[in-house]
Parts: sequence; C-alpha cells; structure tokens
Amino acid sequence: MIASTHYRWGKRRIHVVIRPVTTENFKDLPNFRLFPFSCKYCTYWESREFNDKTKKEDAEETKQKWLTSVGKEFGNCAFIVYVDKTPVGFTLFAPAKYFPTLSKYARIGAPSKDAVFLACLYIARRELWKKGIGKKLLERVISHLRDRGYKAIETFARFRDTQPSEIGDWLGSAEFFLKMHFALKNQKDEIALLRRELKPVVLKQL
Ligand SMILES: CC(C)(COP(=O)(O)OP(=O)(O)OC[C@H]1O[C@@H](n2cnc3c(N)ncnc32)[C@H](O)[C@@H]1OP(=O)(O)O)[C@@H](O)C(=O)NCCC(=O)NCCS
Repeated sequence: MIASTHYRWGKRRIHVVIRPVTTENFKDLPNFRLFPFSCKYCTYWESREFNDKTKKEDAEETKQKWLTSVGKEFGNCAFIVYVDKTPVGFTLFAPAKYFPTLSKYARIGAPSKDAVFLACLYIARRELWKKGIGKKLLERVISHLRDRGYKAIETFARFRDTQPSEIGDWLGSAEFFLKMHFALKNQKDEIALLRRELKPVVLKQL
C-alpha cells in the first residue's frame, strides 16, 4: 500500500508519498554527496566489505542484490519517501541475521530474536527535518510490520546528533527514537540499543 499525505510547510503545501522499494524505483534511492553513505550506495549494515574505496557501480550492485534477495526471503524491507515527487528519504529494516555489521555492536547488545532490526531511517534533505516526515516514515514501517505480525522493532542510535567524519558508526538520533516511543534497552557511552513494541501505544488520558 502507498501512503500519501499533504503537509503545510510555511505557506506551501507539500505532498508526501511513501512507497516500498522495488526494482522499478531502486533508481530513486536518495543519492547525495556523502559517498559511500548515500542511500543508493550505502551497505554499512549489509556488508562487512563496506568501505570508502568501493567503486560506486559495485556499491550500487551490492545494495540492489541485497534488497532483492532479502525481499524474496523476508518480504518488503525498505521504503522511499518522496516530497512533491522528489525522493528525499529512505528506511531499511529486516531481521538481524541479514545485517552482518551488527557483530560490531556486540559490546552494546544484540537485537532480540523477536524483533525486526531498523538499520536506517534517514531524511536526506536537512531543510526537511523537523517537519514530521521522519515520524511519518517510521509510522509507515511500524504499521507495515505490525500488519505482518511482527512483535517489536529495535535499532541502534546515538545520544548526540552528529555524524562521523569517516567510516564509523553511522547512526540516527536516540532522542528522536525515544520521542517515537522506543525504550532504552542497552547503552554504552553515547550509543544505545532501543526497542519499540509494535502493539498500539495507549496514550495516557489527561
Ligand atoms: C532523525 C530524523 C529521521 C528525524 O526526521 P524528521 O523528519 O526531522 O523528524 P520529525 O519532524 O518527524 O520529528 C518527530 C518528532 O521528533 C523530534 N525530533 C526529530 N529529530 C530529533 C532529534 N534529532 N532530537 C530530538 N528530537 C527530534 C521532533 O521535534 C518531533 O517532535 P514533536 O512530535 O514533539 O514535534 C532526521 O532528522 C534524520 O534523518 N536525521 C539523520 C539521521 C541519521 O543520520 N541517520 C543515520 C543513517 S540511517
């Protein structure tokens, strides 16, 4: 199913559409200047061979092969978010066994067997941050996994909204996930393993 919403951005109305990644729209994976972390080429979680010496064509092929093979075994594992038809964000999720780089995080903890691992949730255009698009994309992942009968989602994130300057831990903001009703499961220094149960959140009555 394709999720579509209109938002107001100042005086402008923006049209946000979230689509599953397929062979047809793989070309739309956000591509920004920060190679090899650009979504189209980034295999940080998917491959132990990920590094900044990889050629773009090889990185793209690895990414596409991974999406195709995990898609066949697990089902849909990625969405692209479009704003006014331009791809601006990407998310990737699957059971932990598909992400060999998780072994690098063993000192912090391992995602539970009953959870799907959220490897990436990224809005690639900074000027679009804090407009509700990241939340919308995460909600789409959650409803998609809930409908498929999964119990929980887990992710690694960082308590400090900075990015590494070289190949390092490429993680999102722990504060964002806490706001999105994730709970802290484990933490070492600034890196946290967070978990959200997929049953609907019951809001406290005022
Ligand atoms: C984290 C990210 C996905 C959030 O997307 P977004 O569209 O900016 O977030 P939203 O506007 O939907 O925010 C939802 C809520 O979280 C809050 N929030 C968003 N980013 C936050 C942050 N970094 N710290 C604290 N709170 C944050 C918002 O203020 C908002 O709160 P509200 O509901 O009380 O208003 C986006 O900022 C991003 O892609 N950051 C980079 C992440 C990254 O580098 N990931 C590594 C590779 S995958």
